[in-house]
Amino acid sequence: MKVNGTHYRSLWWDHDKSVLMIIDQRWLPHDFRIQPVETLEDYATAIVEMRVRGAPLIGATAAYGMALAAQLDPSDRALEAAWQMLNATRPTAINLRWALNRCLAAMRPLPEAERASAALALAHEIADEDVEINRQIGAHGLELIREIAAEKPAGEPVRLLTHCNAGWIATVDWGTATSPMYQAHDAGLPIHVWVDETRPRNQGALTAWELGSHGISHSYITDNAGGHLMQHGQVDLVITGTDRTTRRGDVCNKIGTYLKALAAHDNRVPFYVALPSPTIDWTVSDGVREIPIEDRDSREVSHVQGVLENGDIGLARVTPEGTDCGNPAFDVTPNRLVTGLITERGICDASEDGLAALFPDLAKQ
Ligand code: MRU
Repeated sequence: MKVNGTHYRSLWWDHDKSVLMIIDQRWLPHDFRIQPVETLEDYATAIVEMRVRGAPLIGATAAYGMALAAQLDPSDRALEAAWQMLNATRPTAINLRWALNRCLAAMRPLPEAERASAALALAHEIADEDVEINRQIGAHGLELIREIAAEKPAGEPVRLLTHCNAGWIATVDWGTATSPMYQAHDAGLPIHVWVDETRPRNQGALTAWELGSHGISHSYITDNAGGHLMQHGQVDLVITGTDRTTRRGDVCNKIGTYLKALAAHDNRVPFYVALPSPTIDWTVSDGVREIPIEDRDSREVSHVQGVLENGDIGLARVTPEGTDCGNPAFDVTPNRLVTGLITERGICDASEDGLAALFPDLAKQ
């Protein structure tokens, strides 16, 4: 999508320098900084420190990491070590393991001399595929928004609510939850998006930055406002992203998603999840019991980053010094609270049957 009129993907390959370029998301939305990822350690750090973040983008980044590993040392032993190192960076988003497994499986049968070029070609393929998947999710989600718009008085906006940032910078392009929003806006449908701030890291500010850059009407709201807005008929549709969805349709996503789903259920507001197929973990059924939830640094809770009065980007502590803080980064919304899953192949029930009907080829594995 565009930043100041220029089209960007959230990562891209610099063919002249043979290096991956990323947008360092730690500084967004206040500063747009681009940086190269040059060593295997850089790749791991970029994911751990959330310079790149969002399940699909983590997966695509890891694929380029495997390409670098194959260039440095294409032996099985070295590639498996790189797999281990990158897989250990973040535990919840399944796209990471999905991409690493795909890369390793593609390289193993090849002679060592062919592995580096094959791995780089595969990383490009994974990145391009992500863009196309998200474009298709947007096309299916657009129809959903169109149906709601048809029920409203002419010109009245469809009011959507989203949590965290499942936007283009959380993917390679388009975003998952935001793709239907971009496509609805581009199709001339009036929409307004309620953007949850999403403490502790305020990824909602990234969503607000994205939507604002695209000219989409939105309001940034506190995490606790969604239930109130739903009670007062101010939300027509919730769309979130997901970091891992189980074979039966339980949805793991940024902490606080579950509470939004409960509020939506209580107020009969449709709650949809935008789900690229690489985010389905076919090996897991019960999300609450089986998905590992990342526990992050307590400083993300005790401190808030923002722009200071003097224009610098700085940190402010909001708790008394030494306060114990808990920071589970994700939660699981059981399938019974999810109205439907918007995938690249269409919309389905959040159920084993629903997913298997759309993805019979993947469900069997
Ligand atoms: O911790 P983050 O910022 O990587 O978490 C991201 C989210 O939870 C997104 O909503 C999710 O990855 C879907 S991204 C398309």
